[in-house]
Amino acid sequence: MAFINENYLKLRGSYLFSEIAKRVNNFKNENPNAKIIRLGIGDVTRPLVPAVIEAMHKAVDEMAKEDTFRGYGPEQGYSFLIRKIIENDYAPRGIEIGEDEIFVSDGAKSDTGNIQEIFGLDNIIAVTDPVYPVYVDSNVMAGRTGEYSEHGYFEKITYLPCSAENNFIPELPKEKVDIIYLCFPNNPTGMTLSKEELKKWVDYAKKNRAVILFDSAYEAFIREKDVPHSIYEIEGADEVAIEFRSFSKTAGFTGTRCAYTVVPKKVVAYTKNGEAHQLNSLWNRRQTTKFNGVPYIIQQAAAAVYSPEGQKQIKETIDYYMDNAKIIKQGLEDVGLTVFGGVNAPYIWLKTPKGVSSWEFFDMMLKEINVVGTPGSGFGPNGEGYFRLTAFGSRENTIEAVERFKNLKL
Ligand code: MLT
Repeated sequence: MAFINENYLKLRGSYLFSEIAKRVNNFKNENPNAKIIRLGIGDVTRPLVPAVIEAMHKAVDEMAKEDTFRGYGPEQGYSFLIRKIIENDYAPRGIEIGEDEIFVSDGAKSDTGNIQEIFGLDNIIAVTDPVYPVYVDSNVMAGRTGEYSEHGYFEKITYLPCSAENNFIPELPKEKVDIIYLCFPNNPTGMTLSKEELKKWVDYAKKNRAVILFDSAYEAFIREKDVPHSIYEIEGADEVAIEFRSFSKTAGFTGTRCAYTVVPKKVVAYTKNGEAHQLNSLWNRRQTTKFNGVPYIIQQAAAAVYSPEGQKQIKETIDYYMDNAKIIKQGLEDVGLTVFGGVNAPYIWLKTPKGVSSWEFFDMMLKEINVVGTPGSGFGPNGEGYFRLTAFGSRENTIEAVERFKNLKL
């Protein structure tokens, strides 16, 4: 008899974005003529930029010739890409990262979901509330949490509330935690942490021998000067933090799949009897066993993001999305809604009208104006009463959605 991993039974319903897709499809089946605008899942709509496409074509041709064909590549990624990452994303900020501290992968979603495997099951994890659901669900699946309570929380997780009351800045936990997930610029709220705020977390981790898992998938959208792009801008963070980055939102790779994770060799965690071990070698062991690397063609495409033309072209795309963010923010404010985010991130986090829950607002938007967003409560109990819209739509759809907001019966 085969037994299941019963931890899966603790999970709630389906994954948030699958649930939304299901509801939207049902609505579409019942209303085949509705012109639905999707500003729910943060999926990009602009095509890959010419520099990337050109590099991809070239790499495809190389794969067609015997002398340039490639089979398995290094599980950690090709050094031509890793060197470009270091030269462009870290060196200009004065951050020193070794080539063997970077692991190229197929996505920040997979890496932030898989990283927990190298940690013991007794660790207490801390997450912000609201939070990107992958951090929580992957720990539930592993058995690092208790049951799901009726209040919307899993036992044995420390939740760090973020709401308008604290300007979406999490406070340090009162009890001791071992692993801290931070995502800034934040998904879902679109809000950021200053260097001073981030330093508090690095200091906490150093003092408590904790590890910070820092998701900076949205750093390319930062517009304001004082907002850190990398946690390694904080002194000492390379002793306590792992950083996740992605080409998905930065360069339109959501369907193409390429990301990377930085695991500095100085970051350690401990055995039960107090022996320190490098997380870098554990992650390397995990990746070489379970992952065979990102395709050569895709890594060449990612490397082209760093060429002068690539940089110029992706900047235009990012500007396009951030102009969408401005349009949405303004449009929502004009109809009297309170809006957060959208300044250093492609997400707009709005307060639902008084007395309207996140899922009620989802239904209102879908039925009354055929616009899809993401209910804040899907990201955690503290997201209740909030709603997320993405700036990743086309300009035409963004403007049309804003026009339709005026017809919402608020
Ligand atoms: C989101 O909408 O939160 C993101 O697109 C999800 C992801 O990147 O996996």
